[in-house]
Amino acid sequence: MPRPIGIFDSGLGGLTVVRAVRRRLPAEPIVYFGDTARVPYGIKSSRTVTRFAAEACAFLCRHDPKFLVAACNTASATALPDLADRFDVPLCGVIEPGAEAAARTYGGRPIGVIATEATVASGAYCRAIHRLAPDAEVIQKACPLLVPIVEEGRTGADPIVRAVLAEYLEPLVRAGVGTVVLGCTHYPLLVDAIAACLGPEVTLIDSAETVAERVAGRLAADGLLAPEAEARGPVQFFVSDNPDRFREVGGRFLGEPAEPVTLVPSEEVAAAADATVEKAP
Ligand code: DGL
Repeated sequence: MPRPIGIFDSGLGGLTVVRAVRRRLPAEPIVYFGDTARVPYGIKSSRTVTRFAAEACAFLCRHDPKFLVAACNTASATALPDLADRFDVPLCGVIEPGAEAAARTYGGRPIGVIATEATVASGAYCRAIHRLAPDAEVIQKACPLLVPIVEEGRTGADPIVRAVLAEYLEPLVRAGVGTVVLGCTHYPLLVDAIAACLGPEVTLIDSAETVAERVAGRLAADGLLAPEAEARGPVQFFVSDNPDRFREVGGRFLGEPAEPVTLVPSEEVAAAADATVEKAP
């Protein structure tokens, strides 16, 4: 059995990345951890998010992953250097791939970034976009209500969701953005409603595809791709709370049943981190 790709998020959002990775690399086994007991990450301090992210990676490392993906913008924005220092497994986040995709579409109009409060406060997207498109005006907007809305299973057809989006997106529309980065892995679930609010002239960036491309490139370069197979690679899901709810809402993110799901209590996830042998300096 080839070694799996380990992917984590605070909850369901990272499943949008799992879906893209499965489309691009169907033979790869995947182990997913959703920290459903502690979602949302986006309103927590960077210290707390860094601890949660390290625990998630330590838990995934029990499955001997060949690659780790922080499928969470908040964790990518605040914890990635720390994770790279601590774990001896190649890893990537979702900010750089999203920024690359945004810079590719840049045509002179401002670039909007919608994300959690923590991601916006980190300035990680501004820095990553400016490295590639130094002249671009980047307008960030924190949208804290969107993660609970999505976790609750509400869709863009819901009038409450439309009202919330109209208010959050108004400054971006007023600024005449040409591109908007969905800077949270939960937001692609609302992509149609977001597109309707912004209008047809605005390009939306969902970094999931770019992330999948990056994972594929890295595994190919390291000779770690799973051999091509008729059957799709198995996916195992672990959550820190409420597996039934994850199963029910997760299928919508994934486009296929989110099964099997195993409960792993937060104490056990934390214990995995305590037992982690730190990477040699
Ligand atoms: N989906 C994650 C992100 O991309 C986390 C959102 C949250 O838990 O607040 O930021």
